Amino acid sequence: MIFSIRPLDKTVDTASFNCGQPVLDEYIRRYASQDIKRNVARVFIATPEHDNAQLAGFYTLSAGSVSCADLPPSLSKTLPRYPVPVALIGRLAVDTRFQRKGLGSILVADACQKVAKASISLAMVGIVVHAKDTTAAGFYRHFGFKPLPGGPDWLLLPATAFRA
Ligand SMILES: CC(C)(COP(=O)(O)OP(=O)(O)OC[C@H]1O[C@@H](n2cnc3c(N)ncnc32)[C@H](O)[C@@H]1OP(=O)(O)O)[C@@H](O)C(=O)NCCC(=O)NCCS
Repeated sequence: MIFSIRPLDKTVDTASFNCGQPVLDEYIRRYASQDIKRNVARVFIATPEHDNAQLAGFYTLSAGSVSCADLPPSLSKTLPRYPVPVALIGRLAVDTRFQRKGLGSILVADACQKVAKASISLAMVGIVVHAKDTTAAGFYRHFGFKPLPGGPDWLLLPATAFRA
């Protein structure tokens, strides 16, 4: 199936989105557009090519920072002692009707591409994600994200991986 990805707009049906995690369903229905207006997050949606009102998946991107002590020693030894800039995939979800068909991977790849482009003019040491549970952490590890020592639910993909 072919999907198109674009910033969240009012033409997409968020009401029937169901990814199996009520917190994420609630987020896209009620809070995502507020976050955009307040410049807290950018939200990108995927819709099937044949129906651009059907919400198949989404993710959010924000700027963030990580304390050096929370980074793996292999990375922190090359960095300053103060908090360093990262990009944050705050939320990412695929509707149950579209799960296990590769859309989650497409969304991660799209996010990495956007961050790689932004990182030409805005420096960051990597992309951080917060996995909701061990299953989600397994999904991110699949793409090379590594758990952060500070907490196994936080994972990082170093800039060297997505800028390559
Ligand atoms: C996690 C989620 C985004 C995966 O999306 P998806 O479209 O089903 O994922 P894909 O089809 O692209 O799968 C990509 C790879 O990850 C693996 N994978 C998918 N879901 C997985 C899971 N829950 N645990 C471990 N691995 C998983 C697949 O086996 C696949 O590997 P393969 O290509 O070798 O077969 C989706 O299941 C979802 O939205 N879940 C509910 C919300 C959630 O947990 N979000 C995570 C961020 S908090």
